[in-house]
Amino acid sequence: MDTPLAVIILAAGKGTRMKSDLHKVLHPIAGRPMLLHLIDSLDRAGAVRRVVVVGASGEQVERAVAATGVEIAWQHDQLGTAHAALQARDALAGFDGVAIVCFGDTPLLATETVARLAERLEAADAPTVAVLGFRPADARAYGRVIADADGTIRKMVEFKDASAAERAVDLCNSGVTAVRTRDLWRLLDAVGNDNAAGEYYLPDIVTLAIAEGGRAVAIETGEDEVAGINSRGELAAVEAGWQAARRAQAMADGATLVAPATVWFAHDTQIGRDVVIEPNVVFGPGVDVADGATIRAFSHLEGATVGAQADVGPYARLRPGATLAEKAKVGNFVEIKKAAIGVGAKVNHLSYIGDAEVGADANIGAGTITCNYDGFFKYRTVIGAGAFVGSNSALVAPVSIGAGAIVGAGSVVTTDVEADALTLVRAQRATKPGWAARFRDMMRARKAGK
Ligand code: UD1
Ligand code: MG
Repeated sequence: MDTPLAVIILAAGKGTRMKSDLHKVLHPIAGRPMLLHLIDSLDRAGAVRRVVVVGASGEQVERAVAATGVEIAWQHDQLGTAHAALQARDALAGFDGVAIVCFGDTPLLATETVARLAERLEAADAPTVAVLGFRPADARAYGRVIADADGTIRKMVEFKDASAAERAVDLCNSGVTAVRTRDLWRLLDAVGNDNAAGEYYLPDIVTLAIAEGGRAVAIETGEDEVAGINSRGELAAVEAGWQAARRAQAMADGATLVAPATVWFAHDTQIGRDVVIEPNVVFGPGVDVADGATIRAFSHLEGATVGAQADVGPYARLRPGATLAEKAKVGNFVEIKKAAIGVGAKVNHLSYIGDAEVGADANIGAGTITCNYDGFFKYRTVIGAGAFVGSNSALVAPVSIGAGAIVGAGSVVTTDVEADALTLVRAQRATKPGWAARFRDMMRARKAGK
């Protein structure tokens, strides 16, 4: 499309049905505020101007979108969706093109759909307004689109104002509306609030356009894409839809998901080919898993990089800054934070490795802990290539274990260990032969009163 595209995202509503201190449009889907999903999709559709209309708790939204460079318009009183859209007029002064008005609480709108809706205005019948409709399994309280079979709209009606016959119509309004800016402001100005809610309704611009002799048309899309989020239940339902699509994508891209429904991805999870993901794995944001890695059951990963052929879990936790090189192994009940685990290195059982570097092929015994924190500052532990740290050792950082060194089990290491040395930090062993037997005899005699 040659006509420049602007988007107006409405996000000034109070979102009362969420019952939350967090603004509705900032509730996350796949670990990312829903509004940012929407902005991304609109950017890909080629939007050259983007305005987010905010009101109640608008500062929260302003902060969350600061990095995207979108413009902010304020709607101080929430008088309805038409009134909200009108607040973008100053921001878009001088802009001549197509505007897409959409809702911050309808975040999974696809790039292609936005383009399709904008292009609909350019068709030969030159409609004034194009509305994105959908036919949900449960039409709930969505506004209804009363249209002919060819998509020509006769009327838009909010659920609260609809007759029984209108409520029976299954074509619903997604809220996403395309209109040229040269018509938009005039139509919005003309919207009144004589309705059941006493609000200025955006869908009324359709009725007004028709009254002016213009055409209004609906195009349709699937329910998953435009389901609105007004409550926690609807948030969970949209999340579920997003996850289902992402799992299908991961499998299509060559990953094995043993029990797909139990794997949770984040918006930016990267999964390579021939990765095997066992049941009940959760990916927080910022995870990259290279080809051929295995993520075993009940592992939780966030901000982590997993190298090719690496093996993680079961029951592993990779926290931000964990990077596993090729063929590294991190086993059960191991937590890794801000630490690089070298090629082929193993941390197989019950360990905490934080603020550390573990060299290639090093072996970290069961129960090893890097003591990285003194209550005030964090310190680093460096473990050389091929080092062997015995079970249940405490490495008190800052400390380094040289390449090839061996640390005896149970050691508390507070100073550096040189390469290829053996370090044992244990109390001297004292053994008294026969002592235990003599002790028992004495105590038994005492108890018997002899
Ligand atoms: C709206 C539509 C309905 C549609 C549904 C789709 C209207 C009147 N109704 O209903 O036809 O089926 O979305 O999900 O448009 N907002 C403002 N300022 C306001 C009021 C709302 O910015 O004064 C914003 C909200 O933050 C939200 C969006 O507009 O992002 C929609 O508002 P909401 O109250 O959720 O409308 P619905 O009842 O869902
Ligand atoms: Mg809504």
